[in-house]
Amino acid sequence: MQIHKNISLKPYNTFGIDVNARYFISITSIEELKEALSLDGYQKFILGGGSNMLLTKDIDALVIHLNLKGISILSEDDESVVIRVGAGENWHDFVIWCLKHDFGGLENLSLIPGNVGTAPIQNIGAYGVELKDTLVECHVLDMQSLETSILSNSDCHFGYRDSIFKGIDVGKYVITDVVFKLSKVPHKLHISYGAITSELEVMGIKKPTIQDVSKAVISIRQSKLPDPKEIGNSGSFFKNPIISVIQFEELQKTFPSIPSYSISKKETKIPAGWLIEKAGFKGKRFNNYGVHEKQALVLVNFNSAKGIDILNLAKLIQATVHRIFGISLETEVNIF
Ligand code: EPU
Repeated sequence: MQIHKNISLKPYNTFGIDVNARYFISITSIEELKEALSLDGYQKFILGGGSNMLLTKDIDALVIHLNLKGISILSEDDESVVIRVGAGENWHDFVIWCLKHDFGGLENLSLIPGNVGTAPIQNIGAYGVELKDTLVECHVLDMQSLETSILSNSDCHFGYRDSIFKGIDVGKYVITDVVFKLSKVPHKLHISYGAITSELEVMGIKKPTIQDVSKAVISIRQSKLPDPKEIGNSGSFFKNPIISVIQFEELQKTFPSIPSYSISKKETKIPAGWLIEKAGFKGKRFNNYGVHEKQALVLVNFNSAKGIDILNLAKLIQATVHRIFGISLETEVNIF
């Protein structure tokens, strides 16, 4: 195990922000992870896929890069398969592996940046499916006691872009492996989400397979979300806010076209992308950073932007949306 000094984190975060880690170590086993966590005299900073973070300053700590790999089938029967995956596996590569083996359940989550181990933290979701729908359990290491344990799906308290890992237990655990239960044929497809139905129609597919659904999702994502390899970004920067139906009906009087997704009789979710677009930010470019031209929920680093500039833009967006609509936007991305 080698500790490196003053390493640029630019290749390790999808926003492509160039800050330094004072110390950096890449671990490939749980034993190495325990060893790294028990090194005295260092503050520790766990780094997974770097796909849901905005780095605004150098990290004055020992950055532990989780490079835990491995995909193994734990059990299977005629209908389903239970698979254990190392936290350091790339999320989309794992989805593709599942599709190759004709295991269903993750196809709607194709092309989401990041690693398997970071996916449960914010309960990644897209096109009507969330990670929690197929996740069985998370294998974790307690950062203090260095003991391993297993948290069941319900232990993780998953919510919309939420879990205990960013809530009450933030900073307590390192997720080392994730276990999924996926389907075998016949699969249950989730294609009611409007954009998927129309994309499948465009593709001329009447009886879609899970591979077709994945292709449709990839095509939709590529048409509106920037590829982090080309333009630095962290996907949706904000969560879609949930407001009361009373507040929504009041807003409808001034903004009759405001879109919403009903959550319950009392609450409704508003697409933050719409609010940001209406506030005039869609496609706005400030030197080397800005708001994506095709999806206003995504902030982008065009080239060598500073994290603090992007954070200030996020604050300006929050203040403007609040002034116009009286709605507070919460960040989905973790800020450091
Ligand atoms: N909209 C606009 N202008 C925009 C963007 C969106 O008006 O610039 C409005 C439109 O009314 C559109 C609606 O927002 O119909 C919904 O847009 P979209 O389908 O793109 O979804 P979203 O709510 O903006 C969420 C997730 C995405 C996920 C998509 C598809 C959140 C915070 N984001 O975005 O997740 O891919 O749904 O399911 O829930 C991510 O988390 O990083 C992410 C990309």
